[in-house]
Amino acid sequence: MEERIIVGNMKVDMLKEDALHYVETFKGEYNNVVLCPSSIYLNYFMDTKVKLGLQNIFYDGTICTGEITSRQAVSMGIKYVIIGHSERRYYLDESNETINKKVKDAVEHNLGVLLCVGESEEEKENGRADEVIKRQVYTALRGIENIRNVAIAYEPVWAIGTNKLPTNDEIKDKVLLIKKVCKDLLGYENARVIYGGSVNVENVEELNKIEEISGFLIGGASTEPETFEKIIQIINNRQN
Ligand code: 13P
Repeated sequence: MEERIIVGNMKVDMLKEDALHYVETFKGEYNNVVLCPSSIYLNYFMDTKVKLGLQNIFYDGTICTGEITSRQAVSMGIKYVIIGHSERRYYLDESNETINKKVKDAVEHNLGVLLCVGESEEEKENGRADEVIKRQVYTALRGIENIRNVAIAYEPVWAIGTNKLPTNDEIKDKVLLIKKVCKDLLGYENARVIYGGSVNVENVEELNKIEEISGFLIGGASTEPETFEKIIQIINNRQN
């Protein structure tokens, strides 16, 4: 059975003391887990027995104050990067074209990419969800040599931090749509799609029954180490 990837997107959670507490408490060794704390705390996380990721990246070859490039990430042993999170699209106007440049650059440097896509509440209500997702996936991934190191995270914006969840069938439909866009429009076979949005210790067992997904991108519930380890164990139990 395919090992599911489990990514903790800690966003702007944690102050220094919380980060120190986290690394003291989070003891497990998991090959399939990626922790993405704020980059100022990454050094504290270097001794954890999981992989580490950034929450954003900038493309090489351009100088830009305040950014971190793929080359720099690789030099620190970082394995993954989240690209195109809806919060960045919304607050920082990150476009699909900019996201495409970031994905290309990260893939060229052999970083694992977690590309976020998903419709807003308004787009869902107007029946535009599929069209929006198609455009996000197509524009972000066109011209990429191969997507072996890319997982696409379906994160409906209305499910992020809200405790609202799509049904398993709704998630499955969107996962199949994303896989179809990858295959039919971009020629990528076997795209990996993960789910994110209000995943927690109570609902993860049910979500884990979806056959078509390849893992989870978890926000709030990843910021508390004991809870996150419980979630990891629930997800990984399916594989044993
Ligand atoms: P929550 O799990 O807090 O809903 O956040 C999801 C998310 O945005 C992960 O990238």
